[in-house]
Amino acid sequence: MANILNVYALPKLVDPKEMEGGTVVVIDVLRASTTIVYALEAGAREVIPCVEVDQARATAERMANGHVLLGGERQGRPIDGFDLGNSPGEYTGDRVGGKAVVFTTTNGTRAIERAQRADRILIGAFVNAAALVEILVHHRQIHLLCAGTNGHFSDDDVLLAGMLVDRIQRQSGLLYELNAQAVTARETWLHSFALPHALGAEPLEPERLAKALRKSLGGKNLTAIGLEEDILAAAQMDRFSGLPEFDPDELRIRLM
Ligand code: MLT
Repeated sequence: MANILNVYALPKLVDPKEMEGGTVVVIDVLRASTTIVYALEAGAREVIPCVEVDQARATAERMANGHVLLGGERQGRPIDGFDLGNSPGEYTGDRVGGKAVVFTTTNGTRAIERAQRADRILIGAFVNAAALVEILVHHRQIHLLCAGTNGHFSDDDVLLAGMLVDRIQRQSGLLYELNAQAVTARETWLHSFALPHALGAEPLEPERLAKALRKSLGGKNLTAIGLEEDILAAAQMDRFSGLPEFDPDELRIRLM
């Protein structure tokens, strides 16, 4: 069977059946996937993604034992009655250490739901990019699923997908069949930065990556509501080595 490396710039651009048997990386750089990485790296026991706010409240209530927090956003802002919003910087060891976080966001947690027929579902962000590549080079059917922003493409996600396409191909030394969106995403990545940075030969400083992320739809929305510092948090390339994985039986995300 051919090696496959596909990018979907939006969840609605892929039929969930197409991802059956493959490895999906759910990407929502600004901010759900980035925040999930920060939460687990800060010591959260698990993140439980929910599509709807009411479903999140009911889930947290069923678990009510003092070890559960509610986190997430609607229109980018914290949700009434929730403990945490969707800013990576809120998820510190003090607040989330040892706790389960029941989490709902506008696009990111929906994308996770869309991927549920896959064999494995990983959560991808720039902050854990190198760790992702390290494992993905051993996989042969890879689907990079971008969450987008309210049904529109957002270059924060496409840039990471493009970087992964480039690095997986070069580091594995394998030939993959790319779909058209994977080719476009890779081109977008390579044209966004000077070549030594885009190819990983020289480090890409967070400020430089943040500048590109700010221009994306998700970046503009965050800037408009005063959450620009979240963009810099998302641009800390390879800050963490942990890989969050969604367990479809237990419906929760833990570090692998
Ligand atoms: C999403 O799920 O699209 C994000 O959480 C949006 C945001 O960061 O506000």
